[in-house]
Amino acid sequence: MSNKLIAYYSRADENYLNGMIQALQIGNTEKAASILKDLTEADLFKIEQVNPYAKEYNECIAQAQEDQRKDARPQLKRFPDNMDTYDTIYLGFPNYWGTMPMAVFTFLEHFDFSDKTIYPFCTHEGSGMGHSEADIKHLCPNAKVEKGLAIQGCKASQSKKQFEQWLKR
Ligand SMILES: Cc1cc2nc3c(=O)[nH]c(=O)nc-3n(C[C@H](O)[C@H](O)[C@H](O)COP(=O)(O)O)c2cc1C
Repeated sequence: MSNKLIAYYSRADENYLNGMIQALQIGNTEKAASILKDLTEADLFKIEQVNPYAKEYNECIAQAQEDQRKDARPQLKRFPDNMDTYDTIYLGFPNYWGTMPMAVFTFLEHFDFSDKTIYPFCTHEGSGMGHSEADIKHLCPNAKVEKGLAIQGCKASQSKKQFEQWLKR
């Protein structure tokens, strides 16, 4: 068991890529997370909602936007068994309107991240990290939150170099 954890949220199915709606087998953040796993040998954990958003893009947008408006905390299927063993958390998510999907808020509020270091990374279609780093600091006031890495969603499979440079810092 590693002392490093990659916890990520990612949604496959319909997404808006290169100007059109396309169905993805594997979500962009999941692709990035698996590259990071190869580089760090960290444990991998997927943050999954009990009630996932719709496969259909426009319906998903409406559901996710409503959750953000309500400041919802969607229920998660499971949590890692023992967070105490980890001192480094790589937190991966897609940018949803400048921040993380609300399920990632549920995840962060579930644990005490005191004295742990969180390295955020996101995939996005133009908004970069948005205000996600500030949101993570607010949710985990006693954690050290490092500068995040923003990866363009459609380039997630080619993100190895970006990760290598980020990990070197
Ligand atoms: C509900 C929803 C909201 C999104 N909002 C934004 C946004 O505000 N800014 C942005 O750059 N990309 C936005 N995107 C695009 C995603 O961040 C991007 O496609 C990401 O790579 C998806 O990652 P995933 O496949 O791992 O879920 C949004 C996508 C969805 C589905």
